[in-house]
Amino acid sequence: MSTPMDVIVSLSKRRGFIFQSSEIYGGTGSCWDYGPLGVELRNNIKRVWWRDFVQQRADMVGLDASILMHPTVWKASGHVDNFTDPMVDCRECKRRFRADHVDELPWTHFCEATKGNKFQIPAGEACRHCSQRRTLCPECGKGQLTAPRQFNLMFKTFMGPVEEDASVTYLRPETAQGIFVNFDNVLQATRRKLPFGIAQIGKAFRNEITPGNFIFRSREFEQMEIEFFVNPHEQIDGRPADEDWHDRWIEDCQRWFTRYGLDPAHLKRHEHAKDELAHYAKRTVDILYEFPMGWSELMGIANRTDFDLKQHSKFSGKSLTYFDEERKEHVVPFVIEPSAGVDRALLAFLLDAYREEEVRGEKRTVLRFHPELAPVKIAVLPLLKKRSEIVTTCHDLRTRLAKRWITLYDDTAAIGRLYRRQDEVGTPYCVTVDVKTVGDAEKGEAGDQRVTIRERDSMEQIRVPIPELESVFAKLLGETAWRDVAAAYPRAEG
Ligand code: GAP
Repeated sequence: MSTPMDVIVSLSKRRGFIFQSSEIYGGTGSCWDYGPLGVELRNNIKRVWWRDFVQQRADMVGLDASILMHPTVWKASGHVDNFTDPMVDCRECKRRFRADHVDELPWTHFCEATKGNKFQIPAGEACRHCSQRRTLCPECGKGQLTAPRQFNLMFKTFMGPVEEDASVTYLRPETAQGIFVNFDNVLQATRRKLPFGIAQIGKAFRNEITPGNFIFRSREFEQMEIEFFVNPHEQIDGRPADEDWHDRWIEDCQRWFTRYGLDPAHLKRHEHAKDELAHYAKRTVDILYEFPMGWSELMGIANRTDFDLKQHSKFSGKSLTYFDEERKEHVVPFVIEPSAGVDRALLAFLLDAYREEEVRGEKRTVLRFHPELAPVKIAVLPLLKKRSEIVTTCHDLRTRLAKRWITLYDDTAAIGRLYRRQDEVGTPYCVTVDVKTVGDAEKGEAGDQRVTIRERDSMEQIRVPIPELESVFAKLLGETAWRDVAAAYPRAEG
């Protein structure tokens, strides 16, 4: 069963992953702030995505375009005319809803059959008393809804000191267009041959009519997008090259999510029907994740054809073609676009990592993050904080380990509680320094200079000599499994 959203929202606030934006002013339901652990998790997701899809591939390069662009970009891309959602307003309470989402909301009903009693009725259901279905505003239950009107989702702003029509521009609603308008710059600068891709990670803004489901749909979010340019005149195994590359990217993207911990059973694909396709797309496949509110889009992989390059060429008057040496012809490349939301990926990783387990009769909450994603990699903990040698050794170890991995020190509770706190934020390894490590000078006992390493998921513990810590963590936080590393060291009792 999927983790309830309220559990993740509460954990996120309590442990410093995600806070509501401007909370002290009552908050905004549509923007979110990432706290000390959230920012590390978010950076880790972006870092591994960039490493896996850009740095490790020979056919990819990166870009970081500006958020504010020339306003004609949005005319050419079709966003000024087409990036709209139908909205309806309540004539009574003035709330605004997406016309196509209004029946997916629970609704308020004042039931005539029960002397006007007020009920909250689940989305799509009729009243049990009077069998009536929703016709009025789902929120206040009183107002008529207006006829649907198209509402453009782009945030308008003004460039320069004068607020006049000539200076209107928009906050970008997708990072993709920054890539298209730089296609020729990148091509000239890098001398790439098709097929090749340009990737970008950055903020995007949409004035969503009904943001919600925590960070799933917000007005300010981040995208990780690739525009992969393919020669449409080439064939691969008897198929047009763009169709072959589209299938490859769908596979690669889905595999990426499972590689970093998502359960394959929580992922599935959705093939867009003809009437669902965006105006630029030949084919689009979404990767869906089983979020608490149901199967919903985690990312999309679209075949955008040559639409964008041709549009920008038409509106700018600049040629955006590629010279095919073999065929001695200029071609407008087709584009395969894997487009993922950082925030949605982060939500899916949080939900999938969350477990409540029973350990020796007690509840343990654990985030089983992939070590690469875990915000903190190692926690160094003293068994006794009154013993100065133990505390000094802990601080020395933290300083040493923090040179390579995010490592923290915590002495604010007894050891059992310290372990539970690290489990709850997904720290894969704890290092504990105890009396045996440092010895007892007063009794003339030398320490063994070994510390305990505890692994989060199995809760197994091993004793490791201090000088070997860096090499052990290089393996554990690299590709080597815990059991292979642990086999070389004596077990410690938990
Ligand atoms: N360039 C193509 C494009 O932007 P999209 O399906 O509109 O396509 C791509 O967005 C991804 O961006 C989505 O799959 C989702 O992960 C993320 N995304 C879109 N709108 C979002 C929102 N309002 N809040 C959070 N993430 C969003």
